[in-house]
Amino acid sequence: MEENQPPIIYEKKDGVAKIVFNRGPKGLWVIDLDVAKALKEALWDAQQDDSVRVVVITGQGRAFCVGADIKVFLPEVMDHPIKARKFFRNIGYEVHRLIEKLDKPVIAAVNGYCLGGGLEIAVACDLIIASENAEFGVPEINLGIFPGWGGTQRIPRLVGKIKGMELILLGERISAKEAERIGLVNKVVPPEKFDEAVNEVVEKLKSKSPIALALAKATVVRGLETDLDTGLAYESEADTIMFATEDRVEGCKAFLEKRKAEFKGK
Ligand code: COA
Repeated sequence: MEENQPPIIYEKKDGVAKIVFNRGPKGLWVIDLDVAKALKEALWDAQQDDSVRVVVITGQGRAFCVGADIKVFLPEVMDHPIKARKFFRNIGYEVHRLIEKLDKPVIAAVNGYCLGGGLEIAVACDLIIASENAEFGVPEINLGIFPGWGGTQRIPRLVGKIKGMELILLGERISAKEAERIGLVNKVVPPEKFDEAVNEVVEKLKSKSPIALALAKATVVRGLETDLDTGLAYESEADTIMFATEDRVEGCKAFLEKRKAEFKGK
């Protein structure tokens, strides 16, 4: 691994904040504390910047992200459980929570291997678009550990207990098509159509009301973590807020006037 590789590449253009994994051996992007810190800073910036409407997290080349830098787990580096706790807490909890609590939709654009902590980041995102040559899995069990960055919680919530258990206990990789079949990803496209497919979803999201997107996302995320009655109460409060917005007026008028709505996020 090149020591001076920046942990991530972060760029903002035309309302899209793009976070690209960039540290790892032979283009297999891994996560270490520097990457986690850079991810947190980028996500925080995307949250604060009103011009950002959508966030895309991706890799480049043959990997989205292959998880933790396994070297970090060796006793020479992780010589005390408290160090491990810091590592898992800093990444597993904070980065994923930041993604889920972001007011803007976050797309995982999975171009290649999406393993371990890489998959745990992807499943914290709101939408997952995959290239046909992507592969998914949580192979931690083969290292004598298990997914500890939210994988044991988010993956079974997404694909159900039995399929989740299979992925976690057997630690095998599955193809993008299989991931689509079990409901782990939204869409799988041929590699040559990948950028176009991601862009298409980005443009669709950019055309919506940012307030409606933020509140819908927060309602789904909160609702999945609570009982139905609490979720419905939250939905009703969030929905009420929409009726104080200009976007609601614009959206309904535009429909009735048979024109495209111009949402201003107000
Ligand atoms: N952390 C640290 N190094 C890693 C790594 C990781 N997560 N994943 C791969 N590497 C390193 C390999 O040790 C190898 O190093 P070397 O060139 O010094 O020998 C290099 O990357 C290339 O990996 P290799 O396994 O030879 O490539 P491959 O194309 O045959 O296989 C993968 C690619 C992604 C399928 C395979 O590397 C793999 O299974 N990686 C581990 C993924 C994992 O367990 N993630 C969970 C981590 S908690």
